[in-house]
Amino acid sequence: MKVHLIVVKLARGSAFLHNLLLKRYKRRMEVVREGRVITQPMAYDALDNRSSREAYKHYEDYTRYRTFELVADEIRRKYSPEELSRFCVAEAGVFKGDFSWIINEKFPECEMYLYDTFEGFDQKDLKDEVHRSFTEKERLKTHSGYFGNQAENSRQRIAAVKSKLKYKEKCHIRKGYFPDTAEKEKEKRWVFVSLDMDLYQPMKAGIFYFWPKMVEGGFMFIHDYNNRDFGGVKKAIAEAEEEFGRICKIPISDEGGTLILCK
Ligand SMILES: C[S@@+](CC[C@H](N)C(=O)[O-])C[C@H]1O[C@@H](n2cnc3c(N)ncnc32)[C@H](O)[C@@H]1O
Repeated sequence: MKVHLIVVKLARGSAFLHNLLLKRYKRRMEVVREGRVITQPMAYDALDNRSSREAYKHYEDYTRYRTFELVADEIRRKYSPEELSRFCVAEAGVFKGDFSWIINEKFPECEMYLYDTFEGFDQKDLKDEVHRSFTEKERLKTHSGYFGNQAENSRQRIAAVKSKLKYKEKCHIRKGYFPDTAEKEKEKRWVFVSLDMDLYQPMKAGIFYFWPKMVEGGFMFIHDYNNRDFGGVKKAIAEAEEEFGRICKIPISDEGGTLILCK
């Protein structure tokens, strides 16, 4: 197996070699998307409502999606649908909704809150990030340009997110600067939250906002914890542990280096 992985790595640069290897080892490997090869897909189809294999070809980051499904199933083992209907789920940092849809699909009973500027990073968060030297200026420019300068305006972006949701009636879009946009949800209880706003200030605000209101057995996904481009996320977690005491943390090997927090 190890040899296969090394050869696959070497072959990434060459489409010809890559295809040849795929043919040779087709029983062991599955292409999720061009250039991204995984071995031994998980023998578990947790997502009942869609053909997972098709979905994962389209949406990147197999490991994050599939780990989420397992986490969601743990939650669903603990709570009945009626109990779940009293709790909420959220994503802060939605972008095009490529992770929001699966949260919505796995928790049809829960009200879902989606927080994003839908216009990219906020200037004051960017300034702070540079000031604290969490992210290299050039890298920050690239990320900031990507999330901020999309062809669609924010209205079109929100419509595109909604179009991906199976249970649209459960979705509440909160457009604007997080945490200011979360004022109305202060009394809610959360069973699953994905935080993916990249930068120190909003990530810290998200952890401090949601963690005390997570129900027992709930989970949080902290994206970019082990991402070399976003050093502030680790600091935000360290500060949360100073404030709330030790938190149960599980790092996973997805693309963004997500950290899972278990309540
Ligand atoms: C990496 S993208 C989210 C990707 C998405 N979770 C996914 O898996 O496809 C980061 C998003 O965070 C949003 N964001 C960053 N800082 C924010 C803030 N303070 N308030 C609201 N949204 C913010 C950006 O607009 C951007 O869309």
